[in-house]
Order: sequence, then C-alpha cells, then structure tokens
Amino acid sequence: MDCTLQIFLDDSWVDCAQIELNGGLCQWNHLVEYAIEYPNAPVSLAEPVDLQIRAPRTLPAFLYDLVPQGAGRRFLLGELELQDGPDADFPLICAGAFNPIGRIRVAEAVNYFEAHVGRHPDARGLPGLTIDEVVVRSSDFAERIFLHGMLGTGTTGVQGAAPKYLLTRDRAGLLHGDAILPDADAKQHLIAKLPRGSTAADEKVLRNEAAYMRVAAALDIRTHPDLPTLHGDVLLIPRFDRIARDGKVGRLHQESVASILGLAGFDPRPSLFEVVAGIRKVVSDPAAETLEFIKRDVLNLAMRNTDNHARNTAVQLVEGRVQLTPLFDFAPMYLDPELIPRALRWYQLDTRAELMDWADVLAALPVPDHERRMLAGELSRFAVQIERLPDTMAAQGVDHDIIEFVTQYIDTQVRQLKALQPSEA
Ligand SMILES: Nc1ncnc2c1ncn2[C@@H]1O[C@H](COP(=O)(O)OP(=O)(O)OP(=O)(O)O)[C@@H](O)[C@H]1O
Ligand SMILES: [Mg+2]
Repeated sequence: MDCTLQIFLDDSWVDCAQIELNGGLCQWNHLVEYAIEYPNAPVSLAEPVDLQIRAPRTLPAFLYDLVPQGAGRRFLLGELELQDGPDADFPLICAGAFNPIGRIRVAEAVNYFEAHVGRHPDARGLPGLTIDEVVVRSSDFAERIFLHGMLGTGTTGVQGAAPKYLLTRDRAGLLHGDAILPDADAKQHLIAKLPRGSTAADEKVLRNEAAYMRVAAALDIRTHPDLPTLHGDVLLIPRFDRIARDGKVGRLHQESVASILGLAGFDPRPSLFEVVAGIRKVVSDPAAETLEFIKRDVLNLAMRNTDNHARNTAVQLVEGRVQLTPLFDFAPMYLDPELIPRALRWYQLDTRAELMDWADVLAALPVPDHERRMLAGELSRFAVQIERLPDTMAAQGVDHDIIEFVTQYIDTQVRQLKALQPSEA
C-alpha cells in the first residue's frame, strides 16, 4: 500500500513525497521534482527536503499528526471495515487525511472523499447553518453529518479525544463543513469542539476552557487574537493554521512537538527537557520560545491543566518564522472523569528523577548563562501575575470552585517563582 503526500504552497496543492508500506516495512522519499523546486518547504521540520530514501522502523513520526483519532477514527474504521489497532493507522490516513489541520494532506484520501461526496449528490451547495442549529444539533445538522458521513465536517482531519467538527463561515456568516465550502467563499475557519463525554464534569471542563483561554490571553501568553466562544455546549475555536484573505485561503505549516521530536505512536512520553531541546532546534528565536513554553507550563501547573501531552503543543511557520502556535487545549483537565495525571514532566535526563522546583529546572536547562539569567528575571516578574491569578480567573469567568481548588497550586508557583534569583543564576 502506498500514498502520495501533498503540500499547500502558493495557493495550490503540490505532490511532495511518497510513502510505501509493505508487510509492516515503511519506505518514503521526497519526489525528485519537488526536492529540486522546493528545497525549503519540508513536510516536517525534522525532515529536511532531500533525495534520500528513508526506511524508518515505523511510520515516520510526522504522519501520526494526520492519523484520525476519536469520533472520526471510529467512523472511518466502520466505513473501511477495519479492526482498530496500530495496523489501522496507515489505511486510516489513506482514507481520512484529505483535509487535516496544517498544510499536508494525502492524495488518496482526497480521492476517497471525492468518491464519498459523489455517492451523495446533495452534499455540495447546501445552504449554511447558523451556530444555533449546530448547538441544538438540528435535524439539518444531523442530515449534513449523515450526508457527509462525518467527512465533510472534517472530523477525520482534527486530532484529539473530544468530538470536533471543522466548520467554515461563509461571507453571510453561515457555517459549512470545511471540506465542502470552496476556498473562495470562506471567511473564517473554526473548530467546533463538544464535551469529551456526557457527564456534568465533561461539560464543566469545556465550559471553562473558554474562560481559561481568556486568562492565558490576559497574562500575555500567545493566543489567537479571536478567542474561543461558548455556544450551549459547543466551543467555537478560531483556527490559527488558516488565514482567509481576499478570496484565498492560506494554510500554515503546523506540527506537533511529538513530530518535531521524531516520536512515532500516540502516547510518547518525552521529558520536558527533551521537549524544550526539540523546540529550540526548530524555532527562529529559541530564547523567546523557551520562555513562552515555560510560562505555559507554569500556568498548566497553577491552573491544573494536566493534559500536557506531546500533541497538545505544536509549532507553526508563519511569515517565514517558526514559533510555538498560539495556545490550544488549555482547560481544567484535572476535573476530567477519566482522571488525567500530568502527562509530561521535568525528568532530569541522566537520573530520570522528576524536578519539581523552577530553580532546579532552570539550573538543569542546557542554555547559555545569560539566557538562564533572562529566564529567571522574566519568571520572577511573572510571579506578580501568577499571584493575581485568582482575581484574574474570577474576572474571566472561571467557576468559583475551580478557583478555590487551584489556589494551593497557584501559591506553590508564586513561592517558587519569587525565590528565583536572576542575578545569581
Ligand atoms: N485553534 C486551533 N487552530 C488550529 N489547530 C488547532 C486549534 N486548536 C486545536 N488545534 C489542533 O486540533 C487538535 C485537537 O484539538 P484539542 O487538542 O483542543 O482537542 P482535544 O480533543 O481536547 O484533545 P485531547 O485529546 O488532547 O484532549 C490539536 O491537537 C491541534 O492539532
Ligand atoms: Mg488536545
């Protein structure tokens, strides 16, 4: 079985690489014409464009960013009559990765989608829906989902456990399945995210995700200028991998930390020291992005966003610069009924012991001393904002019981950050 990857460059899709999977053996390479014409547009920041034939032991790590997960995965497994398991990943990409987040897609999946739409002649050209129709899951919405078989709304193209739809707003403000609306009609691209499960706690997590993102923005963490908004139990999240302008849609390179670290599979557990090293290797301004990453982790710890796995941090290429994407999936995950412990931690690379204090983490970070001093100075200033978190959280609408619960964690962060000594580091 093989497939061809396409990349969106200069307003069109260009064939760029081919991947072959034979009896569990994988082989892949860039297309020669592509390598010659676009030497500076890699499919992954960890894989330079060249003429080598690569034979990794697993599927290359960047492909795992394209594998359908959650509801989209379950739907496609049924369509393809496949058993779930690691062997399903490649066929799932070949059918489901026709319109993923980012700017890479699979040509065979586009054919699969076109065939699917062909079987449902009514799928194209339908009027859009209002957000209220999505919120009440109106019969029109249900029919769309059925017609597009979950495909047009992009469920297979966006990862994560919570059910999601990729929706696009047209000029009239109405919502369409992202894969269905032509680029020329697109005004704004959104992810509609539903609660992960059906309990009150699932709903509470999603409801507070909107408020958590406002808190992060208030603390000058990098966020999309348009913050998520809650409509009933649907969180509408503006996408930062798309830019709709003058009747054209730009698609930005986006890649998870798991992918830039070359980690295949779905549950890699790198140390946060490895994560920082991986980010520093690919970003344009390593010192600035290290500070941004550490501030986000301070907030994860203070506000108990425990789900900091290697696909909940990503980098993007925007206006020629590589940087962390705006923050996403930032929520009071400690409340999740599935009990999610903090996924990634600051494990010292030699001893594998977990470091629990910022002074120790900064001392162990492999950065130049002037940068260590800068980090300590910035983080001790950040302490002032963290100290005010309970008020900021209340002002941004976080539930009171959550604020009460996290106060002890906030206090720990304040204590540690205030103890940092910028001049002595
Ligand atoms: N605003 C955004 N713009 C572009 N891509 C995004 C945005 N928000 C999320 N993503 C992408 O969509 C994926 C799924 O989103 P998110 O992490 O919020 O879902 P989730 O179901 O809560 O995930 P998890 O399984 O980690 O709980 C992310 O891993 C990221 O690749
Ligand atoms: Mg996520």
